[in-house]
Amino acid sequence: MQIKAQNLGFTYGEGTPFEKKAVSGIDVDIPPGSRIAVVGHTGSGKSTLVQHLNGLLVPTEGTLTVGETTIRPGMKQKVLHHLRRTVGMVFQYPEHQLFEETVEKDIAFAPNNFGAGEKETAERVRRAAEAVGLDESLLSRSPFELSGGQMRRVAIAGVLAGHPDVLILDEPAAGLDPKGRRAMMEMFSRWQQEQPFRSYILVTHHMEDAAKYADYLYVMNAGSIVMEGTPAEVFQSPARLKEARLDVPAAVRILTEIDGSGSFSLNTYEADETADEIARILRGGGPL
Ligand SMILES: Nc1ncnc2c1ncn2[C@@H]1O[C@H](COP(=O)(O)OP(=O)(O)OP(=O)(O)O)[C@@H](O)[C@H]1O
Ligand SMILES: [Mg+2]
Repeated sequence: MQIKAQNLGFTYGEGTPFEKKAVSGIDVDIPPGSRIAVVGHTGSGKSTLVQHLNGLLVPTEGTLTVGETTIRPGMKQKVLHHLRRTVGMVFQYPEHQLFEETVEKDIAFAPNNFGAGEKETAERVRRAAEAVGLDESLLSRSPFELSGGQMRRVAIAGVLAGHPDVLILDEPAAGLDPKGRRAMMEMFSRWQQEQPFRSYILVTHHMEDAAKYADYLYVMNAGSIVMEGTPAEVFQSPARLKEARLDVPAAVRILTEIDGSGSFSLNTYEADETADEIARILRGGGPL
């Protein structure tokens, strides 16, 4: 699904003494099948921006088009409910969204709500549980008896079972150890690759994750997009990132120290790849 924002702005509590302009002048154009990251310092407006994409927030300025739907200031949230079906949202602590008596019912909530029949719902629950690595034996349990990690998987399975075209991932790996965050990101990556039209938009503070799991980055600072491009393009300007109170991944810092010309190339920004690239440069360039 195509997503296009033109001069989008949002002010919390417009017209009240607590008025707070959170984002402004946002232009984005995201084709189907995209892997996007939105990075930015705390309070830069990332969550505010992405909450527009499924109609949780309605812009107070500009326009936003999500698939066939164009959203303008003053539109009622009610008429945007259908967006919740196509744009799934995984919040920072998704396990806080659980509420049903059993894991199965929790995962089934979205498909039930969207009118999938009993058989189709059961099939979706089974597949979503499998996608997130939840054992079938857990389906009859109460989600509140599970471990934190399992609860998070249940919540994500519930979003996947709604069969969204676009997933908004707002710091989905918050609080996980490196192994856990990697497993989670690999899961979203597999989900995206299963269908050519699927997109995700990952909100993260983690530059390594942004580099590895996105093909295009938007960098936010004080409510605006201040840089955009492929990870390699964005990391070419560490000084501008610094102005946005962000840093390039450690791998880029190290390689820039060794090879000031910036002619190195990385795909994953991970330790083993970085080590290979250092070895290549120390041998005087050329292929390994
Ligand atoms: N409900 C609200 N009412 C008023 N102001 C808000 C509200 N939510 C966020 N803000 C303000 O809007 C600005 C952008 O906040 P937002 O949560 O979008 O930033 P963020 O980039 O997601 O930050 P973080 O990385 O901490 O999650 C901040 O100044 C914040 O204080
Ligand atoms: Mg946020």
